[in-house]
Amino acid sequence: MPATIKVDKVQESLKTKLFGKYIFFSREVSSTNDWAKELAELGAPEGTVAIAETQTSGRGRLGRRWHSPKGGLWLSIILKPNLKPSETVKLVFLASLAVAETLRELCGLKAETKWPNDVLVDGRKVCGILSEMKTVGEKVDYVVVGVGVNVNINVEKELPPELRETATSLKAMLGKEISMENLFKGLLEKMESLYQSFLMEGFNPILVKWKSYASFLGCEVEVLQGNERLEGLALDVDGDGALVLKLKDGTVRRVFVGDLSVKIKRI
Ligand code: BTN
Repeated sequence: MPATIKVDKVQESLKTKLFGKYIFFSREVSSTNDWAKELAELGAPEGTVAIAETQTSGRGRLGRRWHSPKGGLWLSIILKPNLKPSETVKLVFLASLAVAETLRELCGLKAETKWPNDVLVDGRKVCGILSEMKTVGEKVDYVVVGVGVNVNINVEKELPPELRETATSLKAMLGKEISMENLFKGLLEKMESLYQSFLMEGFNPILVKWKSYASFLGCEVEVLQGNERLEGLALDVDGDGALVLKLKDGTVRRVFVGDLSVKIKRI
């Protein structure tokens, strides 16, 4: 059976300096994040990518399972930025911006960013990002940024029932399959260009662009944090990646983790 992602084809045409110089492909792994961490431990350089056709134990945020059937883009990239551990959250914004821009430019989809790590199309999740790091003392040794995109996936058959209302795939949105190679290549090129801009100009231009694609800002939202539920107006996302929420009693709270859903859309 032919592989669904022709990595050689991507590498030949890739216009990047660093990202994707080394690409490790497998038909099946437990999690590309775990594989990328192993590669980083073995000394793999920045920009090395681990990609797989399927993941048997794909991981999402907050210890959740990430469904990773064939037809998705499941990849992790090793980064070695000179950042404090608390600043590495910025790479999640960078990655979700890269996905949203690639989907807009390549597929003509109105992809939106959602705090903290999602990309949505038509209000449904098509992509999630999971970043994990290794620190040595106060310094970041490496960060693995895992990107999962539901590409050529049949939502009704291949996603579990509980996700069918809130998640979708590019195939479902476009009514046809798209080239995994083009998406993979476009995404690596976009990520490298945003990463270079981040290293040279800082986080603000990334955040400004990310916010311009975010439809939840200015809306009444609910944020679930374990057993706690916060309700309020989503005022902003600040330079630390925190959601700035105006609660019902008028107080303003900065929120660092949680699951956001929009209650009332702004008009
Ligand atoms: C989320 O939205 O909860 C994050 C999902 C991240 C999924 C990707 S798929 C590639 C990489 N490997 C993993 O095990 N997880 C990430």
